[in-house]
Amino acid sequence: MKLTQAQMAAYERDGFLIFPDLVSAEEVALLRREVERLWNVDAEGTVREGKTGAPKSMFRMHEDNGATASKPFRALSRSPRVLGAAQQLLGDDKLYIHHSKVNVKAAIEGSVWPWHQDYGSWKLDGIERPDMATMLVMLDDASEMSGCLYLLPGSHRWGRTEAYLDTSTAYRLWSVTPEDMKKRMAESPAPVVVDGRAGTCAIFHCNLMHASGHNLSHRDRWQAYFCFNTCVNHPHDVENPRADFVRSRNWKPMELVSDASVLASEAALA
Ligand code: SIN
Ligand code: MN
Repeated sequence: MKLTQAQMAAYERDGFLIFPDLVSAEEVALLRREVERLWNVDAEGTVREGKTGAPKSMFRMHEDNGATASKPFRALSRSPRVLGAAQQLLGDDKLYIHHSKVNVKAAIEGSVWPWHQDYGSWKLDGIERPDMATMLVMLDDASEMSGCLYLLPGSHRWGRTEAYLDTSTAYRLWSVTPEDMKKRMAESPAPVVVDGRAGTCAIFHCNLMHASGHNLSHRDRWQAYFCFNTCVNHPHDVENPRADFVRSRNWKPMELVSDASVLASEAALA
């Protein structure tokens, strides 16, 4: 996939791009089987919530080692559709993944992600510049009722807003204060709803304000995220660094594989 000049300009302006059906139904089915396999694994980083202890987040599917390693997720993270698009938007062929995760927002119980910028926490990880972007992959049909993502168009151009640690949710998140958010939203175009069919993807800038609500529907809302950084921008040492599953130290440049590798990886799993 080669992004057009118009797409590049839209990303500059809005801070995100949405790609309907970027991942096929067959690929989504394979990735979903992987999520079901992995959520039973007792892995570092897996967060659970609610009365049923349903998974909220699990990490590090893109590596070729570790409890949550997944060949299909690894192949997708290196595909031209995903890695190629990130390389083009970040203007650098040498990228690595700061972390990958699946957010399993369980039916009825899955809770909110408050308004935040990802670079709010990644700067604290020791990353010098906001030269990062995240590719979101919908593994379910997502709707406002099921807690889809909202993006605030153009908010990446405001730069980083000082973050505070919101401990009110199952996943403690460096968020933007309600006071800042109210001011920002009053001056901004309306948030964009990232809903639609499973297989829809979106890539967004690390300073773009985003959030999602509670899942009130009777169906889960599964979404995968690949967070790319340029290799030269890898984190410097910080005091009390976060664990590797969320702040990778593997900043070797990723190699592109073919788009067909996602389905081909299933044979390798058999
Ligand atoms: C995130 O922003 O990191 C997660 C948001 C979501 O999965 O709804
Ligand atoms: Mn985020």
